[in-house]
Amino acid sequence: MEKKWWHGKTAYQIYPKSFQDSNGDGIGDLRGIISRLDYLRDLGIDLLWLSPIYPSPFVDQGYDISDYCNIAPVFGTLDDFDELLSKARDRGIDLIMDLVLNHCSSEHPWFKKACADPLSPEADYFYIRKGRDGQPPDNLRSYFGGSVWSKLPGHEDEDLWYCHYFAREQPDLNWNNPQLREQIYSLVNFWIDRGVKGFRIDAILSIVKDLSFPGLLPDAAGDGMSHAANMNALLLDRIGPYLNELKERTFVRADCFTVGEVLTVTDKSVREFAGTNGYFSTMFDLSCRAVIESAPHYTQFTTLGPDEFASCVFATQELYQQAGAMTAPILDNHDEPRGVSYFMPEYLQNAQGARALATVQLTLRGIPFIYQGDELGMTNTHFASIDEFNDLYALDEYRHALESGLSDEQALRCVAWHSRDNARTPMLWDDSASAGFTSGKPWLRLHQDWRTVNVKNQLHDENSVLHTYRRLTALKHDSRWHDVLAWGDFTRCPVGSGMIAFWRHDENCTLLTIVNTRQDVFTMDLTRAPGADLALSAPDHHCCDLIFAANGVSLVNTILTLGCGGAAVICLRHKAMA
Ligand code: NOJ
Repeated sequence: MEKKWWHGKTAYQIYPKSFQDSNGDGIGDLRGIISRLDYLRDLGIDLLWLSPIYPSPFVDQGYDISDYCNIAPVFGTLDDFDELLSKARDRGIDLIMDLVLNHCSSEHPWFKKACADPLSPEADYFYIRKGRDGQPPDNLRSYFGGSVWSKLPGHEDEDLWYCHYFAREQPDLNWNNPQLREQIYSLVNFWIDRGVKGFRIDAILSIVKDLSFPGLLPDAAGDGMSHAANMNALLLDRIGPYLNELKERTFVRADCFTVGEVLTVTDKSVREFAGTNGYFSTMFDLSCRAVIESAPHYTQFTTLGPDEFASCVFATQELYQQAGAMTAPILDNHDEPRGVSYFMPEYLQNAQGARALATVQLTLRGIPFIYQGDELGMTNTHFASIDEFNDLYALDEYRHALESGLSDEQALRCVAWHSRDNARTPMLWDDSASAGFTSGKPWLRLHQDWRTVNVKNQLHDENSVLHTYRRLTALKHDSRWHDVLAWGDFTRCPVGSGMIAFWRHDENCTLLTIVNTRQDVFTMDLTRAPGADLALSAPDHHCCDLIFAANGVSLVNTILTLGCGGAAVICLRHKAMA
């Protein structure tokens, strides 16, 4: 596989509203991020993804952009941005912007012009269509519920509809229009010229549409509609020309790193999207989310235990490896509840479980993205009432839940279970009021554990989750292990239910990552581990070094013992090579 500058790097996702406030308005901002750059450097971060910071009405927290070439005043100015970029660079950190190109905001001047004059050139930047017998043009359901079509503002009597795969305030952009595509390339190049080294690309599969808007047979939800994602999957083969042109006109100019948010992946699409000449450098591993979201209804609480988590993640590792591609392992992000609450058994939904998951995530093949707060072991937030939620999706689900006859308590439980707000609560810096996040009132409630789970406390504790993350990123930077962790092959090591274990190996080195999520103690002679022959073809002449351990691990000669939550990375070699 061709080596790239981003291989072996560790990325970190900042949710700007919730990272660090500098001016007391209760909302995080760029100067706040600047003040925490040393923290990120010490955490061993190489790439920093900022969720959208552009001007926006924030209906969908900035994923509704009203000006692509500026900074939202609530976050700061372009000068602040330039300072952030250069100070991050001084610390060896490159910035990645969020590119939301499937839709803009209904407050964007393009959409306003389209509404003012549906015959204007800008009107063709969107999908504006006549309805069918007074009904929307097709029966697709939006990601946030309800039809993907709404009446065009100002033209409600004319049976004119516009398409939005997400909220009605997020009109979809018509990628068939060449002028629109030119506008898109120039806004991407605006940020490249400023010094940005990469992009996270939002909801990209949705950009391709069947212009006859045929709709689909209703899915299992029972509302006569079909989820827009089903249409994306059908049209996957048609997206190539758009993405190739986007790449050629923008990313290749500066050898940018790009990571796609792509939910539907097949053997073929992985190679096309993220292989050597793929559209993107990598794509998030969203396989766990796909399982969770496959529950037909939001009243169902699907969760994954460690075995299912491992089986999703391992399948992705193999898929990408076979395709000559790299994935981007995640535990969660701003759209998902916390991984430690979803993937760990109840007795490990704590710091131990967080250390175990981190060990897996940071030693897998690919470019891991740590979501802010995961490095503290943050779990899901406890919401006491619907008034504590902010996310439009959560509020919508709550309304639907009540309408479908659930009690207030049941509806709240559903929303709390799924809500994106679980992981959007403010970063916990210390145990002062508002957890050091703001001197004002935080825009979203604090996580319940803020007095104990915070950066200040964890910096003082060598065994903390934070120090575990630091040790893991240090391992990735260590020249002895860098290459095998960056490019080494991945092979499963099946040692039994509740155990998550895999090999990373190249011609010089073999590492075993092993985690015990069971309640009992696990013991194994490493020379007998499935696949140990990768390293130990002469079993009498071996040597095993524990290069990383957390949560109660011991290694005596070749006998490894892991307590509940125990996590280890071991280097196995011939004695001759030692
Ligand atoms: C995916 C983003 O991560 C999510 O937060 C957003 O709501 C949708 N795309 C729409 O942009």
